[in-house]
Order: sequence, then structure tokens, then C-alpha cells
Amino acid sequence: MNQTNIKAVVVTVSDSRTEATDISGVTLVGLLIGIGAEIVEKLITSDDFENLRQTLYALCERKDVNLIVTSGGTGFAPRDNTPEATRSVIEREASGLAEAMRFETAKKTPTAILSRAVCGIRNSTLIINLPGSPKAVVECFEVIKPVLPHAVNLLAGKTKH
Ligand code: MTE
Repeated sequence: MNQTNIKAVVVTVSDSRTEATDISGVTLVGLLIGIGAEIVEKLITSDDFENLRQTLYALCERKDVNLIVTSGGTGFAPRDNTPEATRSVIEREASGLAEAMRFETAKKTPTAILSRAVCGIRNSTLIINLPGSPKAVVECFEVIKPVLPHAVNLLAGKTKH
């Protein structure tokens, strides 16, 4: 068991990125390791809604995963389907996380409010959408980092408050 009990999958959502060009995914892996998380898997999926929905659903069924962090597909482009796919899978929304990321990071990056990122819970797995750029990943992660271990422990029933 790792320091924080976080067992994370990083999902880069992009029609164009490959393992060689996925800087956001690699950045996210580094940030999660930095808070003591175990990285169970790192994936790249296309922006296709159904593909992403099925990927997220299957990951939530796994007992060895309690956190899924996506990067990309949260904007206004026609192929940006990540919020919709996430919403189709979650049972409970954790809107405070998404609101805080937009609010806090918009203070220095006004375009942060263009992200439609959604956060929520299915079974005992937390799904967090982040925007696609490495800069956005760093900025947004900084906001949720202090509460992530506690959030995962709450989902596991290990902490009452
Ligand atoms: N949030 C932060 N903190 N920093 C950023 O640079 N980029 C924004 C926004 N959120 C950004 C950010 C931009 S320019 C866009 S278009 C949206 O995220 C959506 O990005 P995505 O479609 O790659 O998810």
C-alpha cells in the first residue's frame, strides 16, 4: 500500500496525441507520484464519446483503481466529449473540485473558465477531468492536490470527516 492509498489511472483524451507526444499525461503521472500515488496505468484514448465512456466505465469497475484523472477534451470544440462521457458514468458529482480549479486558476489564466471539466464519483472511484495542456494540468493539479488523499480515503470509508 502506498503512502496515500491512491491507486490512479491517467487517461489522456486526444485524437492526435501518441505516447511520444503525450506531455500532459507524463506530467500528470509525475504530479501523482509526487503525492505518493501508485500509478496503475496510463492510457491515451480518442475523443470519441462512446469509446471514452466505455473506458471510464470499465476503469470504475476495477477494484485496483480508486482515482481516474483525465486530461483533455474539456473545451468547446465539437470533439470535446470528456465532460459528457464523465457525466454519463458518474453517480454523484463532486462539483467543488471542478469549480475550485476553474476559480483559482482563472486568477492568473483567464481562459481557465473555458474548461467544462467535470468531477464525480462512481462506486468508490473518483473521476477528475483536467484540461489538455501541460500548463493547465500543473495549474489545476496544484488546486486539488491538498485534498486528494482525504477524498480517496473518504470514498474507501477510511475517514469520517
Ligand atoms: N486551465 C488552466 N488552469 N490553465 C490553462 O492554460 N487552458 C484553457 C482551459 N483551462 C487552461 C485551463 C483552455 S485555452 C481551454 S480551450 C480549455 O481549458 C479546454 O481545454 P481542453 O479542451 O484541452 O480540455
